[in-house]
Amino acid sequence: MTSKIKIKYTQLFINNEFIDSESGKKFPVINPATEEEIVQVSEGLKEDIDKAVKAAKEAFARGSEWRNLQPTQRAGLLNKLADLMERDAQQIGHIQTLENGKPFAHSAGETHMAAGVLRYYAGWCDKIHGQTIPTDDGSLVMTRKEPMGVAGQITPWNYPVMLFALKLGPALATGCTLVLKPAEQTPLCNLYIAALTKEAGFPAGVVNVVPGFGPTAGAALAEHPDVAKVAFTGSVAVGKSIMKASGSSNLKRVTLELGGKSPLIIFDDVDVDEAVKLAHDAIFNFSGQICIAAARTYVHSKIYDEFVEKSKKLAVKRILGDPFDPKTEQGPQVEKDMFEKVMGYIKTGDVEGATLVAGGKRHGNCGYFIQPTIFADVTDEMTIAKEEIFGPVQAILKFDKIEDVIERANKTTYGLGAGVLTKDINKALKFAQEIESGTVWVNQYASLMPQTPFGGFKQSGIGRELGAESLDYYLETKTISIKLASV
Ligand code: NAI
Ligand code: MG
Repeated sequence: MTSKIKIKYTQLFINNEFIDSESGKKFPVINPATEEEIVQVSEGLKEDIDKAVKAAKEAFARGSEWRNLQPTQRAGLLNKLADLMERDAQQIGHIQTLENGKPFAHSAGETHMAAGVLRYYAGWCDKIHGQTIPTDDGSLVMTRKEPMGVAGQITPWNYPVMLFALKLGPALATGCTLVLKPAEQTPLCNLYIAALTKEAGFPAGVVNVVPGFGPTAGAALAEHPDVAKVAFTGSVAVGKSIMKASGSSNLKRVTLELGGKSPLIIFDDVDVDEAVKLAHDAIFNFSGQICIAAARTYVHSKIYDEFVEKSKKLAVKRILGDPFDPKTEQGPQVEKDMFEKVMGYIKTGDVEGATLVAGGKRHGNCGYFIQPTIFADVTDEMTIAKEEIFGPVQAILKFDKIEDVIERANKTTYGLGAGVLTKDINKALKFAQEIESGTVWVNQYASLMPQTPFGGFKQSGIGRELGAESLDYYLETKTISIKLASV
C-alpha cells in the first residue's frame, strides 16, 4: 500500500499563491488504510479566512477581470480547468484515495465526473439572463441576474473532488468568487485542483482554498460579514450552526446538503438476484459513506427470507483491502472517529434486538476497515433504522402493503433520496409521488447527472445543486424599471 506520488501542495491557496498560515500551524493528514501520516498541511484559522475573503472580495470588485468578463471567456476557463482535471485524473484520484481510502478506480472516475460537471456549468455561462416584463403602468421593466459576490464553500471528505466541482461550477459560471474550506480529512486533492485553477488562467483571488478545521476556519467563513453566500455539505448539526451564523451576521444566503436515511422499497415482482445486487451496491458503495446511501432496505414479505439469504451471500463475498488494489471493492472508513461511530451503531443494533446476518466486526487489524454488515428483522423504532450511520451497515425491514411502506418510509426527519424496485408502473409512480424526498429512483439507484437537480426535503437540506436551478442560489435578481415618456 505504498504511494509513489509526491504531494506538492500543502499550503493555503490565496490570491493564486500557496502560502503558510499566519500562525504557522500545521495538521497531519492521515491515510485511513494504513493509519499513517501522509503529510502535514498548513492550518487555516480566522485570520487566514479573513485574508482569503479579502482576496475574493477584491477579485469580485475588479469587475472587468472576472464578473464582467465575456461569458464565453469565463466558459473557456471552466472548460480549461475540466481539461486539466482530466489530464491529471490519475494523480488527483491517487491523492484522494490516499486521503479517504476510496478504491482508486472510483476516485479516478470521480475526477472525470467532476470535469463533466464543470463542462455543464461552462455551458451555462452565456445563458444566464433576465426577462422583460409587461406592467400596468407602461414602464419598461427588465430584470438582470447578478452574481451575489463572495461565496463561502464548506465541503466534507466523502466526495471531495465531485463536491469541489458542484460548488465551484455554479459559483464561477455566475461570476461569483469563492473561498473553499475543504474537510480536514481531505485537503490535498482540493489543493491540487486549486493549483490547476491557476494553470487554467483564472485571475488571482477568484478561487481560494483554505484547509483547516470546522469550528475555527469553517465557522469563520460562515460568520464572515463579507461572504454573501455559504454552500455547505455535511452533517445536520453543522448545517444548523451555519444557518445560525448567517442569521446573526449578515443574513448571507445559505444552501445545505445534509445527508439522509434513504429508503429503498423492493416489491415481490422483481428479479430477486438483481434487486439484491442493486440494494447491496446502494448501501455498501464507498463503505456506506454516501449521503444518499440506501440505509433502509424495505423488502416485501413474500420474498423477504430469500432476499436476506442472498444479501448475506453477497456481503460475505465482498473484497476488502488495499484501495489501490484493483480487486478491492471496499476500503476503510475515513477516520478513527467515524470507524468508532459505526462500530457503536452495530453494537446498538445487536442490543436493540435486530438479527445480525453478516459482518459486524472490524476487518483486519490495521486501517479503519469494517466488514459489510447486515441486520435483518429491523423495525422502524430501532436506532439503526432512524439515525444516519454513514457506514457499511444494511438494515433490512419487512413490509406488506404499499400504503404502509410509504408512511413508514416518510417517518424520518430526512428526505434526500429514495428508491423503488417493481415492474408495476402504478406502484412505482404512487411511491414516487408520495415519498418526501429530493430524488426518487425507479428500478435503479443513485444515478446523478449534471443536468438533474439534487438536494433534500426536510432536514436533508435547503436548496438544490446541479441542474439549471442551482445557478439561482448564486444570483440576485435586479429589477430595472424605466419610465418612458410619450413621443
Ligand atoms: P461535519 O458536518 O462535521 O463536517 C463537514 C464539513 O464541515 C467539514 O469541512 C468540517 O470541517 C466543517 N465543519 C465542521 N464543523 C463546522 C462548524 N462549526 N462551522 C463550519 N464548518 C464546520 O461532518 P463530519 O464530522 O465529517 O461527519 C459527521 C456526520 O455527518 C457523518 O457521520 C454523517 O452522518 C454526516 N455527513 C454527511 C455528509 C453528506 O454528504 N451530506 C458528508 C459527511 C458527513
Ligand atoms: Mg464533524
